[in-house]
Amino acid sequence: MHHFAYRGGVLHAEDVSVDAIASKVGTPFYCYSTATLTRHYKVFAEAFANADALVCYSIKANSNLAVLKTLGNLGSGMDVVSEGELRRARAAGVAPEKIVFSGVGKTRDEMAYALSEGIYAFNVESEAELAVLNEVAGQAGVRARVAFRVNPDIDPKTHKKISTGKAEDKFGVPYERARGLYREAAEMAGVTPSGIHMHIGSQITDLKPFSDAFALLRELAGQLKEDGCDLEFINFGGGLGVPYRGNNDIPPHPDEYAAIVLAAAKDLKVKLLFEPGRMIAANAGILVTRVLYTKTGAAQSFTIVDAAMNDLIRPTLYEAWHDIIPVDERLVDTPGQITDVVGPVCETGDYLALARKLPEYSSGDLMAVLTAGAYGAAQSSSYNTRLLIPEVLVKDDQYALIRPRPTYDDLLGRDKVPDWL
Ligand code: LLP
Repeated sequence: MHHFAYRGGVLHAEDVSVDAIASKVGTPFYCYSTATLTRHYKVFAEAFANADALVCYSIKANSNLAVLKTLGNLGSGMDVVSEGELRRARAAGVAPEKIVFSGVGKTRDEMAYALSEGIYAFNVESEAELAVLNEVAGQAGVRARVAFRVNPDIDPKTHKKISTGKAEDKFGVPYERARGLYREAAEMAGVTPSGIHMHIGSQITDLKPFSDAFALLRELAGQLKEDGCDLEFINFGGGLGVPYRGNNDIPPHPDEYAAIVLAAAKDLKVKLLFEPGRMIAANAGILVTRVLYTKTGAAQSFTIVDAAMNDLIRPTLYEAWHDIIPVDERLVDTPGQITDVVGPVCETGDYLALARKLPEYSSGDLMAVLTAGAYGAAQSSSYNTRLLIPEVLVKDDQYALIRPRPTYDDLLGRDKVPDWL
């Protein structure tokens, strides 16, 4: 469910015409809906309304400060994976005790900074990282609350580049070794083992991998309690998928997901943490792009638009499907054709859609690439020296440019030419 719909023949984001934003801001741009962000956060949070739960929105999905502030104001905590993301969370006003820090390669400086901010917990991914965190915390004279990220060796049945809980993935510590690591950590002066963390992958649309994984979490929690570990929380990670393709891939509702979590946590008397990213932000955003040219090649038709793989890398990186609709509703029922939607970047992999049946677009028409609010702008770049794509946030009948398009001077000014040249 989202708040992008046709009104008077024009696609609107809440009460604002997408066409009007395009005229003002220029294309391409991302456009987010506050109502959709809010709805998704609430649906997820309310699924755990009767539990002691903390939702830590996974910043990597969409890290714009205005998005973070919108979610932070609703009470969301944050899951961060770098000092930069931690700084964003703090700049958005999120309390440190609602922040968890994940990632396989935290540096000493990042640990020290996170400790100085007093974050809630570190998700520790290796024995080596544990030793360093123990040392850094010792030097700072504090104890770090840690959860081992446990790798359960479960196939989440998602794209291989976003599966994280199989034995061959770089993430976490093997399930079989986890119990021993908690015992080790319990002896250390700089850390307190107080939680368990698991994140098996992203865009998961089948509940079975979750329930298998959460059964292991429950088993481990029982063992740790037997060992005298004062388990304070279980972090179930993120990963609940979203519908990218019309009504073809409807993911489970957060309530169904919650039923599995609550069964796994029953009677454990722990706080429940979650790190959803995609399911909060994806459907809350569209990418708006203008058709530059259409052409018929020897083998197929191309619709060349002004957004490219540097603006939305998901189609080429993960073979991801994003529905595409026209901003002008009159185009919807035009006969159309099968076409590749491609950008101006000089790579064959630069496409937003391949062999897609679309209405009849002409030069100047606007199209909206749907479900682009997560891992869209956050993964954008200036490749081909293209200006970083701007972002707009809509709320009811107002909108704001929450990341302006840089100027070419901004872009070129980031480089420094040494004196000898
Ligand atoms: N927690 C951890 C430790 C994670 O690694 C991730 C995502 C999340 C939470 C949030 O997962 P979500 O709820 O969004 O599924 N760029 C890729 C997705 C990468 C996901 C990385 N980790 C894409 O566009 O599909």
